[in-house]
Amino acid sequence: MNPKSLQSNSPVPSLRALRSLGVLTLLLLAAGSGPAAGAQEPAPSAPSGPVLLTIQAGQAASKVSPILYGLMTEEINYSYDGGLYGELVNNRTFKDGQNPPRHWTFAPQAGASNSNPEIPHDEPYVAAMSVVTDQPLNDVLTNSLKLTAVTATKEKPVGIANDGFWGIPVLPNTTYRASFYARSEGGFTGPLTISLVSTNSKAAVFASAEISGLGPNWKKFEMTLTTGAAPASKDNQLVISTASPGTIYFNLVSLFPPTFNDRPNGNRKDIMQLLADMHPSFLRFPGGNYLEGNSVATRFNWKETIHDISKRPGHQDDAWGYWSSDGMGLLEFLEWCEDLHMQPVLAIYAGYSMRQPPIAAGPALEPYVKDALDEIEYVTGDTNTTWGAQRAADGHPAPFKLEFVEVGNEDNFDRTPGSYDGRFAQFYDAIKAKYPKIQVIATTRVTGRNPDVSDSHLYVGAGEAAMQGHFHDYDSRPRTGPKVFEGEWATRGSRTSTPNMADALGDAAFLIGLERNSDLVIMESYAPLLVNVSDVRARGGGSSQQWSTDLIGYDALGSYGSPSYYVQKMFSLNHGDEVLAATVANVPAREAGQGGGGRRGGAGGQETVFIGVTRDSKTRAIYVKVVNSAAQPQDVHVEIEGVSAIEPAGQATVLSASGPDATNSIQEPKKVVPVTTSVSGLGKSFTRAFPPFSVTVLQLQGG
Ligand code: AHR
Repeated sequence: MNPKSLQSNSPVPSLRALRSLGVLTLLLLAAGSGPAAGAQEPAPSAPSGPVLLTIQAGQAASKVSPILYGLMTEEINYSYDGGLYGELVNNRTFKDGQNPPRHWTFAPQAGASNSNPEIPHDEPYVAAMSVVTDQPLNDVLTNSLKLTAVTATKEKPVGIANDGFWGIPVLPNTTYRASFYARSEGGFTGPLTISLVSTNSKAAVFASAEISGLGPNWKKFEMTLTTGAAPASKDNQLVISTASPGTIYFNLVSLFPPTFNDRPNGNRKDIMQLLADMHPSFLRFPGGNYLEGNSVATRFNWKETIHDISKRPGHQDDAWGYWSSDGMGLLEFLEWCEDLHMQPVLAIYAGYSMRQPPIAAGPALEPYVKDALDEIEYVTGDTNTTWGAQRAADGHPAPFKLEFVEVGNEDNFDRTPGSYDGRFAQFYDAIKAKYPKIQVIATTRVTGRNPDVSDSHLYVGAGEAAMQGHFHDYDSRPRTGPKVFEGEWATRGSRTSTPNMADALGDAAFLIGLERNSDLVIMESYAPLLVNVSDVRARGGGSSQQWSTDLIGYDALGSYGSPSYYVQKMFSLNHGDEVLAATVANVPAREAGQGGGGRRGGAGGQETVFIGVTRDSKTRAIYVKVVNSAAQPQDVHVEIEGVSAIEPAGQATVLSASGPDATNSIQEPKKVVPVTTSVSGLGKSFTRAFPPFSVTVLQLQGG
């Protein structure tokens, strides 16, 4: 390596001179079945001096997909319940665990709890709490919580307490919306006190409200809880208590903070803002394995996720081992899209669950095909259609635009010969017959039909070097088959909750490879998107995390983007609409023994510098993306051909870190973040140094 000053304008050798120096250059134009523009190769032996980048700006080589950057999501890592979905009460319908119901404790007085809620508490509190099924709220919410308060006084009230998802956040001067259904026995009418109470030793009450009017019939109670100048905290409970004896049944106990765009049953603001800042163009939902479930019974059954939340039974997310309230239902996914101006990429259940033989194509599959058509009608139909009318009744009369439907998820895991071919054909034919404009995505190779798009997944656990080995994956892929959707992918070398800088360097290189091949790879989404980092040590559903290296982390109170999040954001916000052909030469190679491999084998390249170039055809801005994954600064000499001029002033957005292990966390959310600065000294020919362990988007202004 030959470190130079951070910015310089040194005279440069001509291209011909470089070739005579034995520098390998390659110019590949994306056309027909040919490889993509902007190819690069490592130097045959350890190079020194600058990387040599020549940009052919005279003519675009191919188009950048306008919908390349998007999101993929599912219920994993407490992504919705305990994550994006605003609900703060955990196990609000008492279906998760029975006696005692998970996350509920008996509260003999505000702030205290009894470790065995079935046993009446010691005198002077005589009370009991249990889940009963003989007092259902309705057909689907069949478990109610019965509180019997034999003794209760103003000084010594008794009640029930919920501990939320690893705490309940309390922010100063904030209004929370609480609600529950209740009925009573023996003439008890109330009052009940609803409070936000600290679980620390001081048991401070941050907000409370009182309701009365209980009677023998179920009734919905709604109230607001407004905090004062309380410090932000998460070690709190929601407590509902009585100061007089009585028997009370509860169901659907709910507490919401202010939500993004003030949507009822809406989403948490801070996480939505992180997502909005990425400017994603689509959302692939609802999974992932969560779509399929381990069995047909535990799939994402969309018809049970619509209507008012009191009509949703919820289900066991057995793919990831915990209860799903289905508060984030089909309409909420669509409204999430609406709020962030994304288009939905709707994955439909296609007859394959992970621990059951697939449903065979033919008559047995027909009800699921009908379900999928109904689902599309729910999304797109006007109010004269059955399901469009249902959507209107659910609160959204306007139809949503739907361009992409994905049939299943990772059906390569279905080993039954011919199974997916048959199932895909049945769904494809039915969808195309009714909705010819919808593009149908296959999740693996099929032969019987020509899918519009094929979804490919790539998780690389061997680290950043292995992922960088996938930089060339699409360079020479034929352009004749279906378009490609990299619907789930990530560098997972760190195996930490959220990726570190090394992972981000792998991601950034792969992403440049996708962007410059986005005439073929029209969409990409990192996965998983979200992780609750409150308690990642426990196993299975008891842990807040089921999968490591997730883009965004959070606990009950705060959230942060990982270095890989910032790569996605930087790239999504900074690209043109056309790929410029570029040659990249004299690329330093990683030393032997570092990295390599990966699930899909990799192209064997071990470069440490990765470059891609796009241009905005209207503004003429040129975006040069550079990854330097080495521990030294790297000079890149840039020559731009085919433009009259490049302005001396431009802009650099740089994500860099002190080392590959550097990362962000809930404690240090902004340790690795991009910095944007104005730069000068640019032109048709310039040299610039790129810091160690860095990802840069250099924005130049062309003539
Ligand atoms: O992203 C986690 C899981 O990985 C998804 O649910 C599944 O599609 C893939 O195997």
